[in-house]
Amino acid sequence: MFETKTYADRRKQLKQDVSSGLILMPGSGESAMNYPGNPYYYRQDSSFLYFFGIDKPGFYGLIDVDGDKDYIFGTDFTIDDIIWMGPQPAVKYLAAAVGVDNTGAPAQLKELLDKARSAGKKIHFLPPYRGENILEINNLTGIPTGEVKKEASLELIKAVVKQREIKSAEEVAEIEKSLDISSEMYKMVMQMAKPGTYEREITGRIEGIVGSAGSFISFPVILTTHGETLHNHYHGNKLEKHDLLVVDSGAESPLHYASDITRTFPVGGKFTPEQKDIYQVVYAAVTSATEAITPGKMNKEIHLQTAKVIAAGLKDLGLMKGDLDAAVKEGAHALFFPHGLGHMMGLDVHDMEDLGEDNVGYDDTVVRSRQFGLAYLRLAKELKPGFVLTVEPGIYFIPALIDQWHGEKRFADFINYDQVSKYKGFGGIRIEDDVLVTDNGFRVLGKPIPKTAAEIEEIMA
Ligand code: GLY
Ligand code: MN
Ligand code: MN
Repeated sequence: MFETKTYADRRKQLKQDVSSGLILMPGSGESAMNYPGNPYYYRQDSSFLYFFGIDKPGFYGLIDVDGDKDYIFGTDFTIDDIIWMGPQPAVKYLAAAVGVDNTGAPAQLKELLDKARSAGKKIHFLPPYRGENILEINNLTGIPTGEVKKEASLELIKAVVKQREIKSAEEVAEIEKSLDISSEMYKMVMQMAKPGTYEREITGRIEGIVGSAGSFISFPVILTTHGETLHNHYHGNKLEKHDLLVVDSGAESPLHYASDITRTFPVGGKFTPEQKDIYQVVYAAVTSATEAITPGKMNKEIHLQTAKVIAAGLKDLGLMKGDLDAAVKEGAHALFFPHGLGHMMGLDVHDMEDLGEDNVGYDDTVVRSRQFGLAYLRLAKELKPGFVLTVEPGIYFIPALIDQWHGEKRFADFINYDQVSKYKGFGGIRIEDDVLVTDNGFRVLGKPIPKTAAEIEEIMA
């Protein structure tokens, strides 16, 4: 846990940013996998962790904005629990560690909320993403389950985003702990990416490295020789010489801050000339995008500049043609780079995505585009010091998309379909780093993980 004061200060700020009423923050409970006593790996809700710090199931946070009072509700363990789970700290003790003096049992929370509702007080809550918490809020507030998400408080969402999007030095240090684990993962991947190995063997070793560091993955590992499928979680392929292996993975730090790194490796250790050409374009894209990061810049602008770097590289290789400004404006590059440049990262790998992507990555100054490709940009707004974001351009040859656009002759002025068709078995290349926006620029977080084609080939040799 961070110091007690960190959590108290965060709640104090929240009370200043939310005008009145009560803020209800249920933590996550256990979630049954195949029977109640066999739950999924436990993961606390990130906003609960941020404001109330307790990394255990069964707790509810409450903040009375008008009365300037913070509460934690939970159930003290009985001797039966202790027999199965070992000695457990009392609710009061856990609450004191995060600066909360007022504690009670969940039934008291219900009474308090009932009273507040009859007094006409607003009860703010964040949009729940687990069925269990939809039911909890329904039970605690009387809002019908089907209405709960819609009734989430935009005022509270904005106040939470305002704090969580700016990472303190101690939060950045946590992210760098998870990046230390990432660094170990990628060393191992480079040793294992040899012909004859199965994707699942490397995936298992990645999960082993994370587990032996006492951590957990920040999202299911993407490790595939079919990197043209962006979120490919199938791990059954045998690696063949000259396959491209896309590995997109991350770990959590002890306090649950994420890392999210992607590298693309040539199976067998050497890129083919064709692979190296495309790799250099993605490398130029990730480098120029990272170097463009500075406070005051719109991330949408950096995304579009990066799209132009990709389009220019592809034009040099004969895959695109024509006026690149027009090509990027119209979205022709999205045949190859159909996703956004990156997203916020913190306690969640896609930080605060549960609060609504538009509430996190967009604001009054920028609306989400509806254009194919650009519409997937998760972070568009102006960058501020303290943001941690991913920079993750890629080039993919997606056969179904190529065939569809070719059939429609879509953007035929900008795309050399005859050339592109030859790349249908190529796969994809993505490179991803995690970057802090500093007061006057950027810092790539973590120890450097090999990224140039030359470094990768040297190590793999
Ligand atoms: N973890 C998927 C991504 O890079 O956004
Ligand atoms: Mn990733
Ligand atoms: Mn990412």
